[in-house]
Amino acid sequence: MKRHFSLLQLSRDHHPALIAAQICKRGSPAYLGLPTLPAEKLSYIRSFWKDELYEHFKIEEEILIPEIAGKNDELDKITSNVIEGT
Ligand SMILES: [Fe+2]
Repeated sequence: MKRHFSLLQLSRDHHPALIAAQICKRGSPAYLGLPTLPAEKLSYIRSFWKDELYEHFKIEEEILIPEIAGKNDELDKITSNVIEGT
C-alpha cells in the first residue's frame, strides 16, 4: 500500500510492534534472537513500550487521530474506540 510520506515512520513502527505481539504468545517460536522465556519477554516488552511504542501511540493519539477526525466516516468509526477510551 502506498502511504503518504508523513505516515511512513508510523507505518514502519508497526512491523516491530507486530513481532513483539507475536513473541508474547505462549509457545511462540524463537525469532531473531528475541526472548523466549516469559520473564525475558516481559522485560523486552516493557523496554519496547518505553523506548518505542509509547511515543508511537502518543503521536497517533495526539496528532494523527485529531488531524483525520471528521474527514472520513470509516476512519471515524475506527478511531472512535481510541478517542472514547481516553
Ligand atoms: Fe500504530
